[in-house]
Amino acid sequence: MTVDDPFAHLHDEDYAAAFSRGWAGADTLFDPAGRTGTSLDGEWTLTLDPYDEGLRQRWFELDDDPPERWTVPRDYDPAGGDRVPVPSCWNLLKPEWKHYEGAVWYARHFDHSGATPERRFILHFGAANYAARVFLNGRFVGAHRGGSTPFSLDATNALRPGANRLMVHVENRRRDDRVPMSHFDWFNYGGLHRGVTLFEFPQAHIRRFRIAWHDGAIRVVADCGGTSPRLRIPELGIDAILDGGRGVFAATPEFWSPDRPKLYDIELSLGPDICRERVGFRDVRVDGTRILLNGAPIRLKGACVHEDDVATGRCSDAADIARRLAHVKELGGNFLRLSHYPHDPRVARMADEAGVLLWAEIPVYWAIDFANAETYADAENQLRELIARDINRASVILWGVGNENADTDLRLSFMSRLAATAKRDDPTRLVSAACLVNRREFRIEDRLADALDVIGLNEYFGWYEPDIRDLKRLLANSTPDKPVIVSETGADAVAGLRANDGRLFTEDKQARFYADQVAALRGCDYVQGLAAWLLYDFRSERRQTRFQRGWNRKGLIAEDKATRKLAFGALRDAWRDW
Ligand code: GCU
Repeated sequence: MTVDDPFAHLHDEDYAAAFSRGWAGADTLFDPAGRTGTSLDGEWTLTLDPYDEGLRQRWFELDDDPPERWTVPRDYDPAGGDRVPVPSCWNLLKPEWKHYEGAVWYARHFDHSGATPERRFILHFGAANYAARVFLNGRFVGAHRGGSTPFSLDATNALRPGANRLMVHVENRRRDDRVPMSHFDWFNYGGLHRGVTLFEFPQAHIRRFRIAWHDGAIRVVADCGGTSPRLRIPELGIDAILDGGRGVFAATPEFWSPDRPKLYDIELSLGPDICRERVGFRDVRVDGTRILLNGAPIRLKGACVHEDDVATGRCSDAADIARRLAHVKELGGNFLRLSHYPHDPRVARMADEAGVLLWAEIPVYWAIDFANAETYADAENQLRELIARDINRASVILWGVGNENADTDLRLSFMSRLAATAKRDDPTRLVSAACLVNRREFRIEDRLADALDVIGLNEYFGWYEPDIRDLKRLLANSTPDKPVIVSETGADAVAGLRANDGRLFTEDKQARFYADQVAALRGCDYVQGLAAWLLYDFRSERRQTRFQRGWNRKGLIAEDKATRKLAFGALRDAWRDW
């Protein structure tokens, strides 16, 4: 897969070769799940590079000499940048960096005893928005694009004994050929916004594995380069060698569900490489217009949520995630739509423990460059990396392949291919997207639905389309042959702004909105879920009225993630018996 790297002509052979390898999809990934490495989080330096001078001048080859030892002038010195924490979003670190969209250079040193012939050394990045190029001791070790998925790069040949210098070029430019493209309704944070870790493995190690209950058995596939690892699930009496990495076990586990989120401790080992995970077994499928979890119909009640925090932007921590899950439960919900890009991997792990169902998605959002093969490769790579990362998480039941994309033949082809990829990579989950409405006939209808298991319906009747009666008209006029989830619906409200005269942006109007929504949905037997848009107010520079000032105010809770608006209680009460 060639990539239009504007700087490819500037680099030597190993850059070009590793560059193309670095863009490859999930197949080149190793998944460190269940293993511990050496964290490289903490203090790095950061230097802005708006003209990408660093790639032209090959800053990654500069020495670390202190200024007093310089013999010729230079425009960058790796040790001389601003000191910043990793993970972080640079936008919130200095006022003058808030709206910076461009390239930066991260740099840090770490000591190491050096590579050894029988070991592999993997640099693992939780995510870098949007594109990253990684250099260790002046050598290019790999690149990645896609702002929210992990990537692993083999650093064995570049690692040396003693002091090692790691430099990462990260750029978050909005471009029409990217995923998302240049126009979207959230803040364009940039940076190494998830952790960086150095893993060390024996030559023969567990690259990744998947385990699931599917077609009446526990099925395991482990990618260990063709060797045969050992699987232990003590509570199920399983202790077996997986011949060639594969195994099928006719066990009868207790199924995982929101009410009983049962997880099993499993251990997969290949010699000294031991992977320990906690895994839930469950079955999710559609039956006509119903969604079945472990054979029983289920209604998904919950909210959408962005990764956005007043203080940390895109960076989540365990407390932030635990609060998110607790708020959904307090709403009387069982479901979170992780909008509109892959969230921190801890969300699915903690949702497994808490018993919250998840819709995870890639940012094929609005007007993507559907005619561009490289854009498709980027979108598919993000999808495959998301699936590879969360494949063993019981809480994830839906892969979302897009959101509100205008109906064209190119869009239909692009997104149908993505849906097929999701089904091929993972036959154990459902595939959905926020689909379109046939406005002429005024019914839920989208050519893309044929490629999906569940139809997502973003509708704002009562807000952008003021008359709530149109929602009932749309539902009565539609005859979908598969389940529909209201994948978004909401209204803005400024926390504390009250008026009972129907005025927009008041808490009272937002609360009334949700009472009307649930009332309109009652009795529609093919609507199997509602995801309120959304849990918390979030930053969006598209929103500039006196009520918004750069924030989208549709949160049920304000951006402090504590101040509940009237709508929080209104929704909780309205859908209690729905
Ligand atoms: C759209 C879109 C969201 C957006 C929301 C809104 O449906 O999917 O990303 O934030 O509407 O207008 O608030």
